Amino acid sequence: MSQPASFRSTWTNRWAFILVTIGSAVGLGNIWKFPYMAGSQGGSAFVLVYLVCVLLIGLPLLMAEIMIGRRGRGNPVSAMLNVAGETRSSSWWGLVGWVGVVGALLILSFYSVVAGWILDYLFKALTGFRVETAAAAGASFKALLGNPGQMMVWHSLFMILTVGVVARGVIAGIEKANRVMMPALFLILVLLTLWGGVAGDMPAAWHFMFEFKPADLTPGVVLAAVGHAFFSLSLGMGAIMAYGSYLDQDSSIGATSLWVALAGTLVGLLAGLAIFSLTFAQGLEPASGPGLILQTLPLAFSSMPGGQIFAVFFFILILFAAWTSAISLVEPFVAWLTECLGIRRGPAAWGTGLAVWFLGLGVCLSFNNWSAYTLFGLNLFEFLDFLTSRIMMPLSGLAIALFVGWAMGRDPVRDEMRLPDGAFSAWYRVLRYLAPLGILLVFLHVLGGIS
Ligand code: TRP
Repeated sequence: MSQPASFRSTWTNRWAFILVTIGSAVGLGNIWKFPYMAGSQGGSAFVLVYLVCVLLIGLPLLMAEIMIGRRGRGNPVSAMLNVAGETRSSSWWGLVGWVGVVGALLILSFYSVVAGWILDYLFKALTGFRVETAAAAGASFKALLGNPGQMMVWHSLFMILTVGVVARGVIAGIEKANRVMMPALFLILVLLTLWGGVAGDMPAAWHFMFEFKPADLTPGVVLAAVGHAFFSLSLGMGAIMAYGSYLDQDSSIGATSLWVALAGTLVGLLAGLAIFSLTFAQGLEPASGPGLILQTLPLAFSSMPGGQIFAVFFFILILFAAWTSAISLVEPFVAWLTECLGIRRGPAAWGTGLAVWFLGLGVCLSFNNWSAYTLFGLNLFEFLDFLTSRIMMPLSGLAIALFVGWAMGRDPVRDEMRLPDGAFSAWYRVLRYLAPLGILLVFLHVLGGIS
């Protein structure tokens, strides 16, 4: 079904793989959602539990996904089928690949619309947009949400940017784009954090994020942290599996995963410090959701020395983060089209982009003309987010943990991981017991609606 290993691309080196995987992980989730969640979910309590979750559940699953991708040497569907075949497990496991491939495209349909908002604000920052009051900042964001045509233009542009990279190939497109954007992203983030320290109120931000109040440690906070650990590491959607399938045999999966988890977390923490420093320096309350970066920050930027330049850099930073993540959401399906249907990469990428773009148009309308059309009380945007983040991601993560922990059998797993004995048994045990249990808890929480 899939082509022999010799026909598949391989990342230039281990660092290229680490870079693209960080590129996938670090996205709107880390820079927009993490600071906001930390702010609204008990501050330091959330940060602490999130760090523990990344280490105990996120990292082991990240390793498992990379391992399946490399062992299966194919797109997520073929990789699951190949490994299932090798280990004489049921071919039903191929479904896990499908959930990932389709889920990734569903995520992309709304991720691209949100990234379009960022493009809109980048354009505003470039043209000297200023807001003087919170009401004006709110009104300008509302005006954008009320204008489907404008959102569609930016959404279209973002899809073209994303698909354009994937169409060029794994090395000439994906790896190259990440090699440029990721270092730029780190540089801008460090500059912004420094500027936040000088022009903003860093102590207040530090306080807000790291002052530990044990009373805030509620079950709701723990569950939110597990869920976010998942999303922020791009787990369960085939993206990591697809990237892992291009990893050479000599790289250590454990060490590379550790780098990815560390860097992803660091970016979230730095972004949080920078964003809250600016927010508090202006005496503003951190708004929730998209309001934090699209309303509160433009307001802060407008009244600070050097604000306009930093506003431009800030939106470029988020754009790069979103762009490299979106690329990883397209690749799994494109890889399937090229490997299993023999379609050339160019047409495969543009065709996939067209379908996702079309669904995204509906997302643009769900904020205005179509807001009355709901499913289970959710508009299309909310429904797609709920379906992917709360149902498909945890289910597929659970399946991956069970597949590696129980179905594959110890020997092939051990053979592919090549970890020192102690590390291997610890990791394997986590995948067998702790990870499935943790994910199940989150899932039941979602179904039960406890918070
Ligand atoms: N991790 C990205 C973020 O934090 C989002 C993302 C990219 C993602 N690829 C994914 C989430 C694959 C789940 C699966 O914004």
